Amino acid sequence: MNLFLNCINGLKVERPPIWFMRQAGRYLSDYRETRAKAGSFLDLCYNSDLATEVTLQPIEKFGFDAAILFADILLILDALGVDVRFVEGQGPVLEPVRERKDIKRISNIPAIHEKLFPVYETVRKLKKELPTNVPLIGFAGAPWTLATYLINGKGEQGSLTAKKFLIENNRDFEKIINLLTDATIEYLIMQIEAGADVIKIFDSWAGSLNADMVLRYSLKPIKKIVTEVKKKFPKTPFIVFPRSVNTIYSSFCDENCFDVLAVDQFLDREWISKNIQPSKIIQGNLDPIFLTQSKEILIQELKQVTQDFKKYPYIFNLGHGITPDAKVDNVELVVDFIKGLKF
Ligand code: CP3
Repeated sequence: MNLFLNCINGLKVERPPIWFMRQAGRYLSDYRETRAKAGSFLDLCYNSDLATEVTLQPIEKFGFDAAILFADILLILDALGVDVRFVEGQGPVLEPVRERKDIKRISNIPAIHEKLFPVYETVRKLKKELPTNVPLIGFAGAPWTLATYLINGKGEQGSLTAKKFLIENNRDFEKIINLLTDATIEYLIMQIEAGADVIKIFDSWAGSLNADMVLRYSLKPIKKIVTEVKKKFPKTPFIVFPRSVNTIYSSFCDENCFDVLAVDQFLDREWISKNIQPSKIIQGNLDPIFLTQSKEILIQELKQVTQDFKKYPYIFNLGHGITPDAKVDNVELVVDFIKGLKF
C-alpha cells in the first residue's frame, strides 16, 4: 500500500498525496525532446517505449505520488476508425461523425484493441519500471466529452454543435453515447488487466451541458462504465472529473461507485468542504494559472487551498491540466510545499 491508495481507501495518511493533471507535458524540456524524437503527438502515444519514458519523467524529476499513463482521451476514437489529427497550435481535429452510416462504420468495438495494443504495452512497461509506492492511473474520456469531439470535429467553446445534435437528433446522439460507453468499458478493462491501479474518467466538457443533461449524458454513462468495470474489478478505485458542473457535483457525490471526485478551480472551496468532502475524497483544485506566477503569489494561493480543504483527507492536484507556460520551478515548489504538510 502507499500514500495515494491509502488516501483513496480512507486510511489515515500523514499528508495529502500529490500529482498533477498533464504532469507529463510541454512545460518540461525533457518531454519536448522525447516528443521531437517520436515525430507527432499520436506517434508518441502509440510508441510504448517513449510513452513510458515521458510518463516517468515527472515522477523522477518531482517525486509525484502517482503516475498517469501517457496517452490521450481521443485515442479510442482513432481506434474506432475516426480520422483524428493533432494540428500544431490548433489542437485536435477530427472527421465529424453525424450521419447514421458513419455511426455504423465506427461501431466495431472489439476492433479497438489492435490499435490500442501499444497503450496496454505502456501500462505493462510502467508497472515494471515505477517504484512500488507510486501507483499508475489509467484513464478514459467520458462519453459526452468524446462525443463533443466526435460531433464538433474539434474542441468547441460551449460544445454548441454537439449540444444541438443532442437536441435535434436525440436518437442518433444516444446511439453515439451508448457506443462510446461500451467501448470505454472494454478499453478500461484492458488497462486494468495490463496493470493500471486506479482509473480516472475525464468529462472535460460536462460544464457545457444543462443540469438535466448532465445527469443523463454525463453522470449516467459514467456510472454505467464504473459499475460494469467494477463488476470485474471491484477493488479498482475510480476518480471522476465532471469539469465545471457547478452544484451538480452534489449528484456525483451521491453515487457510491465513484471513489474520488476531482474538482475544478471554479467551484467554491467552502461549498466543497461543506457539501462534498464529508462523503467523498476530493482531488483538486489549484488553478493552473498560479504555476505561471511569482513564488509569492503561488505560495499565498497554496496556503489558501490547503487551509480550505484541510478538515478532511484529500488529494492535492490542479483544477485542470498544467499549461505549457507553467514554470518548472513552481511545480517543484508545490510538490515540496505539499510534502511538508501534516494533517
Ligand atoms: O500527463 C498526463 O496528464 C497524461 C496524458 C494526457 C494527455 N491528455 C496528454 C496530452 C491525458 C490524461 C490527457 C487527457 C485529455 N486529452 C483530455 C482530458 C483532460 C483535459 O485536459 O480536459 C482532453 C480534453 C484531451 C484532448 C486533447 N489532447 C486536447 C484538447 C489537446 C490539445 C490541447 C493542448 O494542450 O495542446 C491534446 C493534446 C495533448 N494531450 C498534449 C498532451 C501532453 C499536448 C500535445 C503536444 O505535445 O503537443
